[in-house]
Amino acid sequence: MEVLKRGLMLLMVFIVLQRGEGQLSENFYRNTCPNLEFIVRQEVSIKFSQTFVTIPATLRLFFHDCFVEGCDASVMISSPNGDAEKDSADNLSLAGDGFDTVIKAKQAVERQCPGIVSCADILALAARDVVVLAGGPSWEVELGRRDGLRSQASSVAGNLPEPGFNLAQLNTIFARNNLTQFDMISLSGAHTVGFSHCNRFANRLYSFSSSSPVDPTLDSNYAQQLMQACPRNVDPSIAINMDPETPRSFDNVYYQNLVSGKGLFTSDQVLFSDQASQPTVNDFARNPGNFNGAFITAMRKLGRVGVKTGNEGQIRIDCTREVNEKFVKDLSVMGRDLGESSTSTTTQMLTLCNLRTSSLYDCLWRIVKIGSWRSWLDSLSGVNGLRICELRSSSVSMAAAVPVIMTLCS
Ligand code: HEM
Ligand SMILES: *[C@@H]1O[C@H](CO)[C@@H](O)[C@H](O)[C@H]1NC(C)=O
Ligand SMILES: *[C@@H]1O[C@H](CO)[C@@H](O)[C@H](O)[C@H]1NC(C)=O
Repeated sequence: MEVLKRGLMLLMVFIVLQRGEGQLSENFYRNTCPNLEFIVRQEVSIKFSQTFVTIPATLRLFFHDCFVEGCDASVMISSPNGDAEKDSADNLSLAGDGFDTVIKAKQAVERQCPGIVSCADILALAARDVVVLAGGPSWEVELGRRDGLRSQASSVAGNLPEPGFNLAQLNTIFARNNLTQFDMISLSGAHTVGFSHCNRFANRLYSFSSSSPVDPTLDSNYAQQLMQACPRNVDPSIAINMDPETPRSFDNVYYQNLVSGKGLFTSDQVLFSDQASQPTVNDFARNPGNFNGAFITAMRKLGRVGVKTGNEGQIRIDCTREVNEKFVKDLSVMGRDLGESSTSTTTQMLTLCNLRTSSLYDCLWRIVKIGSWRSWLDSLSGVNGLRICELRSSSVSMAAAVPVIMTLCS
């Protein structure tokens, strides 16, 4: 009996471990980076104090990331060839401030927890934090995403909803991401903050149909207002508030706007004009608590779309570029070897590469680009009588990029 019991317990432990493996959890970094949420929130607040755009830009960045290749920060990758996700035609409105928020937060996190936290998780946390900063609800963010290795402009087309979509088209594209019509209506509430360029809705003002150039579902005063802000041939960089009533607060006024014909996009207004979605809009317009609850549920579901976990993907150091895993592996092996054999009897020390500070990551990156670190180091060793006297890494982890201190001595 006793044996059987112990066997069962072992089995249960095994199952728990197995399930824990590839899954997101709220306390994923509890031991490895306990201050994570505090650090991210602080950086997001600093960025917000510089510009309000931080809020909509970060929120939308999260959405676009998740709908293209899953929530894996692939949207953050910069390609020297200009063919990454962020270079696609739909990028115009991905305001730089969203990228900047995540980059700054990641740098702050790297200083305390180098090589531990994915950019995808930082983006998910930042998206929650900006909603809170705008007066919206708060929630626990599931963590444990890994950063993706694929980012292509060509994978964006067809994966993001368009402002001209009707209810069926919206439902189809959200369903592909495991999100229901109810989730879709809830998430659309994100349009309670932020801006849109005129060309995204100009057809509703000037060329809706042959019988009616103005979309008849638009409130006529609002239509007038929009025409004033967005005359024909307006400067394409002009953007207007999407929520004309309370553009800077995250609230349910978005739904009240839809009820009164003040939805900016066809894809917004259709949520009220289609009978299938109207009851939910009416409910959210009347009950902010219902909207908040549904938004939280939907954001957590959005955060699970296509995630990479466990050994998939990687943890980037710089959110805008992949870590060259082979290089990091070589370097940490080398750091171990050298760390043992060389205690410094240095006269002049030059710390070349230290991942604890972001700018020095560039130093590592340069080595990666050159290709062979070994020949690069060899060539350096000859210069000015310098030699590598110390190469130290604080961890022997192969998978994660670890802080590496390389010291040259004369
Ligand atoms: C339902 C389908 C959706 C469509 C068709 C759509 C479309 C758009 C379009 C066309 C813009 C304006 C882009 C521009 O011209 O600058 C925009 C902005 C925005 N969208 Fe959506 N969106 C949708 C869902 C979402 C979701 C699910 C979220 C987040 C949870 C979101 C968050 C935002 C935010 C915050 C902005 C403002 C961006 C800024 O000010 O920088 N959208 N959206
Ligand atoms: C957006 O993508 C176009 C190419 O589709 C590119 O020319 C432009 O520089 C990109 N804009 C931004 C802000 O990245
Ligand atoms: C949708 O959910 C199923 C079942 O949980 C999962 O296998 C699939 O990967 C999910 N799709 C996306 C895009 O997340």
